Amino acid sequence: MSASSFLQEVAKRRTFAIISHPDAGKTTITEKVLLHGHAIQSAGTVKGRGSNQHAKSDWMEMEKERGISVTTSVMQFPYHDCLINLLDTPGHEDFSEDTYRTLTAVDSCLMVIDGGKGVEDRTRKLMEVTRLRTTPIITFINKLDRDIRDPMELLDEVEDELNIMCAPITWPIGSGKWFKGVYHLKNDEITLYQPGLGHTIQEVRTIKGLDNPELAEILDEKELADLRDELELVMGASNEFDQELFLAGELTPVYFGTALGNFGVDHVLDGFSQWAPAPQPRTTHEREVVASDEKFSGFVFKIQANMDPRHRDRIAFMRIVSGTYSQGMKMKHVRIGKTISISDAVTFMAGDRERAEEAVAGDIIGLHNHGTIQIGDTFTQGEDLKFSGIPNFAPELFRRIRLRDPLKQKQLLKGLVQLSEEGAVQLFRPLENNDLIVGAVGVLQFDVVVARLKSEYNVDAIYESVNVSTARWVYSEDAKKLDDFQRKVSLNLALDGGDNLTYIAPTMVNLNLTQERYPDIEFSKTREH
Ligand code: G4P
Repeated sequence: MSASSFLQEVAKRRTFAIISHPDAGKTTITEKVLLHGHAIQSAGTVKGRGSNQHAKSDWMEMEKERGISVTTSVMQFPYHDCLINLLDTPGHEDFSEDTYRTLTAVDSCLMVIDGGKGVEDRTRKLMEVTRLRTTPIITFINKLDRDIRDPMELLDEVEDELNIMCAPITWPIGSGKWFKGVYHLKNDEITLYQPGLGHTIQEVRTIKGLDNPELAEILDEKELADLRDELELVMGASNEFDQELFLAGELTPVYFGTALGNFGVDHVLDGFSQWAPAPQPRTTHEREVVASDEKFSGFVFKIQANMDPRHRDRIAFMRIVSGTYSQGMKMKHVRIGKTISISDAVTFMAGDRERAEEAVAGDIIGLHNHGTIQIGDTFTQGEDLKFSGIPNFAPELFRRIRLRDPLKQKQLLKGLVQLSEEGAVQLFRPLENNDLIVGAVGVLQFDVVVARLKSEYNVDAIYESVNVSTARWVYSEDAKKLDDFQRKVSLNLALDGGDNLTYIAPTMVNLNLTQERYPDIEFSKTREH
């Protein structure tokens, strides 16, 4: 690839994820986005149960059974002049660690809000995470085919609760039974809604200008006058879109529509192609790496097994930060200091895994992992870099795990270490006994681990309760003090899956007292990979 076409390719990339509270419509909008990207031909397949069409983002057996998205998937497709990489994040309350790490691999986010409910709990948490890296946010207010709350009030709520300014780009005309369409504030154009056409790309009718006589077909005189008044108020009272504030994560453009009705989704995609940033720089411990660097670099944010029953392997998802990946190239696996040749990376074009011949900064590629790759690993074209900001979170739930058949201890340990390297669960081995304690952020992780231990490692494990309620990674600059600490509280110390020292506390009170007693020891709630 020539230098200029490389830069053009990078500039085309839009890598984003959708964040929302469960049930706000993330799956539905994902499907409609794929429809617009021609990645699927008709909607109704992503969640359609009981058929082979299942696939796309619903991979694991567990997902099918529970109807939730356990795994994170990646889909690439063209939209107008852009190439979109959409990273799916689990919407369920559980598995939030995966979601957090996925958000380190995107350059912007689509926030979906249920118009009937407004800002909900998980949206708040996810927004906090996007703030860690000032990720630009585009907002979609969904379910306009139902009665929603007053749009102005919704924007106020977003502004107050999420601390981000709203700049409406479209504005709804009615909702529920009376939903007529949206007015595009920038284009001075009304797009008319027709119900019942959500499974395909609609031929929409637009009417240019608020004085257009065609409007008489859909609104009577009083309704039209009310709409004009309302829009005047909206334009007077709300923020104008500002690219710089948007890129700084301080202002979000807001769109209205219905994902189910596939209405307004194209406006959102237009927003992404026009305004969302091309691949952004990432920091390493050594320097900042920009996407236009011709030398390849990337980091692993997710490892996943059994994505597709036909390919029983583990895939490490790597975000390319700079340069180009080409088939057969050599790259340095920095943590283990080895140079390896990668001939069979996969891309995620249109939802199917295909062999990648070339991929550039902003893209996600999948590396086949035979146990040497961990979350957070950096790959480069020779330089010793280490990308920062890919966190582990201190678990909040703990259980002791035990075998039904004691002869398989070795397989159990191997399975647990590998699952912890993938980030599926965290493993703690107390210094003073032979227990194996697993820690999770969400309770469903425990079920996944037992199911995977059985299917992938052929071990039958069960849980028992354990007297641990919280954990902190512990460090100290002062080796002597750390030594002393280690001797005094060894009953409460464990090594995690990566052999890092951890304090496992039976109660919060115990943790607080220990922290007070050992002021030279740092207790951390997160650990960087
Ligand atoms: P999630 O991934 O964020 O959890 O939400 P999902 O898309 O699964 O949507 C949750 C529910 O909301 C689904 O209904 C879905 O059909 C519905 N929904 C999504 N967008 C809209 C919309 O624009 N208008 C209306 N009226 N409903 C919408 P469900 O009954 O829970 O599931 P299903 O049986 O329809 O799949």
